[in-house]
Amino acid sequence: MKNQVEIFDTTLRDGEQVPGCKLDTKSKLILAEKIDQLGVDIIEAGFPISSPGDFKSVVEISKVIKNASVCALSRANEKDIDVAAESLKKAKKPRIHTGIGTSEVHIKYKFNSNKDSIIEIAKKSVAHARKYVDDVEFYAEDAGRTDNEFLAKVCEEVIKSGATVLNIPDTTGYCLPSEYGDKIKFLINNVNGIENVTVSCHCHNDLGLATANSIYGVINGARQIECTVNGVGERAGNTSLEEVVMILRQHNNLNLDTNINSKLLNEVSQKVSELMAMPVQPNKAIVGSNAFAHSSGIHQDGVIKKRETYEIIDPLDVGVDKSSIVLTARSGRAALAFRMKEYGVNLTKKELDDVYNEFLIVADKKKEVTDTDFPEILQNKNIRYG
Ligand code: KIV
Ligand code: ZN
Repeated sequence: MKNQVEIFDTTLRDGEQVPGCKLDTKSKLILAEKIDQLGVDIIEAGFPISSPGDFKSVVEISKVIKNASVCALSRANEKDIDVAAESLKKAKKPRIHTGIGTSEVHIKYKFNSNKDSIIEIAKKSVAHARKYVDDVEFYAEDAGRTDNEFLAKVCEEVIKSGATVLNIPDTTGYCLPSEYGDKIKFLINNVNGIENVTVSCHCHNDLGLATANSIYGVINGARQIECTVNGVGERAGNTSLEEVVMILRQHNNLNLDTNINSKLLNEVSQKVSELMAMPVQPNKAIVGSNAFAHSSGIHQDGVIKKRETYEIIDPLDVGVDKSSIVLTARSGRAALAFRMKEYGVNLTKKELDDVYNEFLIVADKKKEVTDTDFPEILQNKNIRYG
């Protein structure tokens, strides 16, 4: 089995569905080009039937994207698919993403339907999409809560109708990693023809498990992960792109990798945050402002001696200049001496003891001691500097 995992970026579709994150065409184009440079394999550009603005965004993105496939979402009906196909006309590598809910709760309450009718609609939609493009992805919405036997049947039928990618969404973020992994394995072992298509993970983060579930998906044979930059997305968000990419990079023994240029991760994260007006939480893995900041004395001492004592990722690998030592009341002498040296002041052992006591007085009053506090601290101890 090939060890390349395709990255399907849905920042501009699932990510953009978030209240307050809506983007106009100009912003979507800026982000689409950045995400393309990052090295993703597929960009889901929008849901064209949802609004004229989104239709236009998919048209414009289709014109400019050079490397990735451009994908448009549709529900399982001809009108949606026709509009998606129209919006993708100029794409070099177009993909239509169509599908329908397959869980009991969706079939009964959303569609007031039954399993046989759902399979018929799914087959017809895929076949209709295939009239326009060679690359058709089918999503079994709420696959996470869909009975595996029925899910396998749906998958087998849509493959026969021409689906090239099978998306198995944990739409409500319900599954445990082992459960989601087993679901993927079950499909791979029980669906005729599945060896000819790509199986895709699309996980939501309602229980904080989206990244773990996607990783278990690829460990069990899926070869595409649907994700968003900064993990933005409906409710608690989608699988975070930067997290899955760096997990696969850090764990070479999985023998799985992506095409992503990780050195661009920080820059793209900041651009998405800026244009969506959606701040990144400081403790966000990989791209949060504290991801490479050390504030406790024990950790600072270790990092100053050897970065690897408390960092598993080289910040340069994700586009962050360097790790930072943050001076707080929990910092030790080693961190203070290190920062003073950077500031141009070399302290003797005795001076360091004196300055450290003065530093703690300031640090107990403030959240963080910065370079602007140093002149007063040094003056109070009669230490010449500058
Ligand atoms: O979460 C989901 O099920 C989706 C589908 C539309 C793919 O976003
Ligand atoms: Zn989703």
